[in-house]
Amino acid sequence: MSQFQSIIRSVGGYLPENKVTNEDLSKMVDTSDEWIRERTGIKARHIAAENEITSDLALKAAKQALERAEMQADEIDLIILATSTPDQTFPATAVTIQAELGITDGAAFDMQAVCSGFVFALTTADQYVRSGQAKNILVIGAETFSRILDWEDRTTCVLFGDGAGAVVVSSEPVGDENQRGILTSKLRSDGRYRDKLYVDGGPSSTKTTGHLRMNGREVFRHAVTNISDVIKETLEQANLTIADIDWFVPHQANERILNGTAKKIGLPFEKVIMTVADHGNTSAASIPLALNYGVETGKIKQGDMVLLEAMGGGFTWGAVLVRW
Ligand code: UT7
Repeated sequence: MSQFQSIIRSVGGYLPENKVTNEDLSKMVDTSDEWIRERTGIKARHIAAENEITSDLALKAAKQALERAEMQADEIDLIILATSTPDQTFPATAVTIQAELGITDGAAFDMQAVCSGFVFALTTADQYVRSGQAKNILVIGAETFSRILDWEDRTTCVLFGDGAGAVVVSSEPVGDENQRGILTSKLRSDGRYRDKLYVDGGPSSTKTTGHLRMNGREVFRHAVTNISDVIKETLEQANLTIADIDWFVPHQANERILNGTAKKIGLPFEKVIMTVADHGNTSAASIPLALNYGVETGKIKQGDMVLLEAMGGGFTWGAVLVRW
């Protein structure tokens, strides 16, 4: 058994200034505020400025998280950035963040699990802490999906937005059973479904960036079942039940998926942190952005049992259980 446990010390977030409403979109493609709100709950999304790239968004969220943790950047010994929209094919965008923060020690790398990216990155950070290989880790989710959307495809362009969120994860000696920290997590992938949500380009295949393509109905069909199953397994691993959860912080893709999941697992809707209306689906950024909202509004308090969950392209999905 490990001597170390990961606590989430702080959280930060950033949304680009340019807010695009459903009404604005209805002037660009054949859609309506009513259709988007009814099917998804989304009212607006934030779009990065032309000269603003993923590392810029990530840096803003990371700096806020560091400030709130009252830490200097050089105390960080690992940066894990979850993103599917890196600044460049390589090097990893995480090394740009590392350099911009003035960090010359430790390591930095990107992680790619699309909308599940933050859950994958947080689980990886937890393993670094548990194995004693890192003390303070910046875990960031940052995306500029606006750059990979087909703005003429109304079935996808209305759903996504840009943003970034970050947490500082620190190592602490394992304490008593009520100690704060990541209790357990569970990751899953099933590549048989990789053509249900994908980008139709890439450096090795088309030598282009490509555009996001999705079979929305198929994703929806699998989402509630996959998410509910992984939550059940995560709770079982921790010997807890749904009644022990104070806050459910899901990946913010679609209000109907979140309500359907809450209903299926028997969680009251009041315990669901919901931010999708304000920023649409920001992929790997959505969970830390929702955490940021939960903490800033005073909903999530120290000691609360928080359940994080995501599902996305691949398919990938997973859950993390944290005592805040
Ligand atoms: O992180 C995971 C990310 N992915 C998701 O969360 C997506 C999961 N899927 C969904 O949320 C839903 O499937 C959507 C919101 C994407 C679509 O909702 P739906 O109820 O499954 O609609 P649909 O795709 O079956 O389309 C219904 C109709 C179609 O018209 P017809 O063929 O019935 O005449 C579409 O062409 O709605 C039409 N439609 C639109 N109409 C107005 C599709 N997109 C739009 C639009 N505005 N933006």
